[in-house]
Amino acid sequence: MERRPLPTTYRIKSFGCQMNVYDGERMGELLAAQGLTPAAEGEDAELVVLNTCHIRERAAEKVYSDIGRLLKTDGPAPLITVAGCVAQAEGKEIMARAPGVGIVVGPQAYHRLPELIAQASQGIRATDTDMPADAKFAALPRRRRSAPAAFLTVQEGCDKFCTYCVVPYTRGAEISRPFADLVAEAQLLVEAGAREITLLGQNVNAWTGSDEADRTQGLDGLIRRLAQIDGLERIRYTTSHPNDVTDGLIAAHGEVAKLMPYLHLPVQSGSDRVLRAMNRSHTAEAYLRLLERFRAARPDIALSGDFIVGFPGETEAEFAETLQVVEAAGYAHAFSFKYSPRPGTPAATMNGQVAAEVMDERLQRLQATIARGQLAFNQASVGRRCAVLVERRGKRPGQWLGKSPWLQSVWFDADAAIGDLVMVDLAQAGPNSLEGRVLETLAA
Ligand code: 5AD
Ligand code: SF4
Repeated sequence: MERRPLPTTYRIKSFGCQMNVYDGERMGELLAAQGLTPAAEGEDAELVVLNTCHIRERAAEKVYSDIGRLLKTDGPAPLITVAGCVAQAEGKEIMARAPGVGIVVGPQAYHRLPELIAQASQGIRATDTDMPADAKFAALPRRRRSAPAAFLTVQEGCDKFCTYCVVPYTRGAEISRPFADLVAEAQLLVEAGAREITLLGQNVNAWTGSDEADRTQGLDGLIRRLAQIDGLERIRYTTSHPNDVTDGLIAAHGEVAKLMPYLHLPVQSGSDRVLRAMNRSHTAEAYLRLLERFRAARPDIALSGDFIVGFPGETEAEFAETLQVVEAAGYAHAFSFKYSPRPGTPAATMNGQVAAEVMDERLQRLQATIARGQLAFNQASVGRRCAVLVERRGKRPGQWLGKSPWLQSVWFDADAAIGDLVMVDLAQAGPNSLEGRVLETLAA
């Protein structure tokens, strides 16, 4: 690689989960603090960060096609940085396969970007995939700007080792950020414009810490504390694991008004044999009982889940059990994926890999079942009155889009602004959104 001047403009492209969105924002703040400015829309950036996802195969492949596209430019090639989970898992391969990449930086090391950029500008390709437990957050600049709906990473990593999943290898062991740091960051986000905060973690409900009085708290204790922040109107959290659900978390849904009636609780499969092979250590029945307990605490709660079809050895009868769980759960929303063998995970070398056509067909049936449930949930919401947090403009002038408490997309016509909480009557339901009629705007 040749020496080059330090970059002055940047662009960050985040793939995958919301935690990557959060990391992308923090990298942007870090670069801005170094004096870089975001490249204008349609203009080439001198530094491009691909903040990658390794959870499924297609996500990882995109990285190489993006690198190829970035190098096919008439002008000088940008300094390409591969960040995120592909960087962590395949850093060496990337450096070998893509000579145009200047920096590889893992998800636990991106606070060191300024040094890595300086090194790459000297013509020395730089890799940092260290996993210091907690150093990253302390080294990042203070939060100064926020959208009305903000993310806040409270927990990272995973110790569960589901047999299909790369996360324990790419994000490392479970760590919880300290209580006081999170209260401080939430406060800053609210001062910077956030009205809703979604607490993020691969196993967010495994979060634990010590509060101001040195008492041990779980996620529900953190939520109760954040609910005391004036100006913060809504709290959400994702993603939870069934084994880490506590009585306190369930109770919080009935007691904390700012905690939104929404729960993303993946089950992955409805078959107990498949769940065992996945190392999930819960049964389908135990999962459904948990959902019922959340419903008892908060009857209108919108439930969501994740599913994998075609896990090695999955039979038609076992897949049918997954469809039964979807019907029984009554989801408002759910994500479903074809199983993708991830290098280094136990499931990748299991017998009985399922044929692609079988997976396709199962995914279609599963998605049709989920879509029916989602439409039914939306239709049952018609007639409800609720607050919508306005997040962006709609396609037509005077049209706005926001989220209901149940995380549905709601569009409406009104004189509003981004960040308003607008009271609407939900008037019409489609499969993916609802139309609202405006009653009043609550003071911003
Ligand atoms: N193949 C398919 N889906 C996967 N997920 C995680 N690993 C894999 C894999 N190897 C899904 C799970 C998880 C979500 C984030 O991605 O459903 O909950
Ligand atoms: Fe992956 Fe399982 Fe951990 Fe979720 S709980 S991040 S699926 S290993």
